[in-house]
Amino acid sequence: MVPPIPEDRLGRPLRKLRLSVTDRCNFRCRYCMPETEYSWLPRAALLEFEELRRIAAVFLRVGVSEIRLTGGEPLLRRDLPVLVRMLSGLEGLRDLAMTTNGARLPELAGELARAGLRRVTISLDSLDPERFRRITQKDVLPEVLEGVEAARRAGFAEVKLNCVVMRGINDDEIPDLLDFALEWGLEPRFIEYMDVGGATRWDGAEVFPKEEILARITKRFGPPRPLEGRGSAPAQRYRLPNGAVFGLIASTTAPFCRGCDRSRLSADGHWFHCLYAATGIDLRGLLRGGAEDGILEERIRGAWGERRDRGAEDRFGLADRRPLLDAAAMRAHPHLEMHKRGG
Ligand code: GTP
Ligand code: 5AD
Ligand code: SF4
Repeated sequence: MVPPIPEDRLGRPLRKLRLSVTDRCNFRCRYCMPETEYSWLPRAALLEFEELRRIAAVFLRVGVSEIRLTGGEPLLRRDLPVLVRMLSGLEGLRDLAMTTNGARLPELAGELARAGLRRVTISLDSLDPERFRRITQKDVLPEVLEGVEAARRAGFAEVKLNCVVMRGINDDEIPDLLDFALEWGLEPRFIEYMDVGGATRWDGAEVFPKEEILARITKRFGPPRPLEGRGSAPAQRYRLPNGAVFGLIASTTAPFCRGCDRSRLSADGHWFHCLYAATGIDLRGLLRGGAEDGILEERIRGAWGERRDRGAEDRFGLADRRPLLDAAAMRAHPHLEMHKRGG
């Protein structure tokens, strides 16, 4: 008999895995990598494709059914389509997706789709080239827009856009970004600025909360209606009077920890139960130490059964909310950076 999907201490099943394939990024988004210097994982520390395939297969046996490739920027990992092909055929995998900054999609979208990548989410925080450059510290809006177009043409089952909204930085662009996405037939998601590791310049005053995002949208498009069936997804989806759908991710002011069925594997094979978790489990060490699949499976089931993490809710409960880490603390705890553990 197949053992049941493990549930954690709060009754949450393990269904989703975010696989970071590299900690490198070619952007320096101000909400994720605002510092000038970062330490990088040594090449030998990264999981090889075959190791990633094996670990993914074990997670699928445990009960995970959806895998999302992340980074850093996943498209910087050499030969990514080869990995996608290795993963897409695995038994038990219902969905294979990727979150990317899009700059390398013009060259890679087609190949990735053919290799079995099903869905893509592209970060797009501004349609103004100068503002885009200020937010990402990279002057490549045309390339990213070309990447969006390439993704649209490649035949993915779904292409979504992620926009992190920051007060005074890009909040005035919400309706235009929504218009843009709808014109292109893509689903936009507006995300509250989160105080995750890596966001060393996070400032509560820059958070543009859900209610204000909805008010901006209502003004241009009329009142949105929340859609049923959110399940464990971070995004609450809404339908506009014109029929179009968008998502809102309010992890800062309305955390969704209660339903969180995801975990993440860093590029060097550490398994984290929460975006905010201080420690992870070294699955690479187990793997390279010669552990059989059955041992890995047992370890994963056991550890998930002990999970109690509610990172975003804990942060929400703080009276005096500051960045999770300042620059010095982040240098001391680089494994807490968002780009290291799969944003
Ligand atoms: P699907 O639901 O499969 O479409 O993907 P997703 O929305 O989980 O993936 P994506 O990489 O697009 O993440 C979007 C945003 O969700 C991120 O920018 C974060 O703000 C938030 N998010 C992702 N994972 C977590 C998590 O583990 N905890 C919390 N609190 N927020 C998360
Ligand atoms: N707050 C909210 N979203 C963030 N991301 C990275 N850092 C933050 C943050 N501080 C988002 C990126 C990307 C996704 C993987 O995570 O915009 O879309
Ligand atoms: Fe920006 Fe993503 Fe790179 Fe972070 S990992 S700097 S969010 S593109």
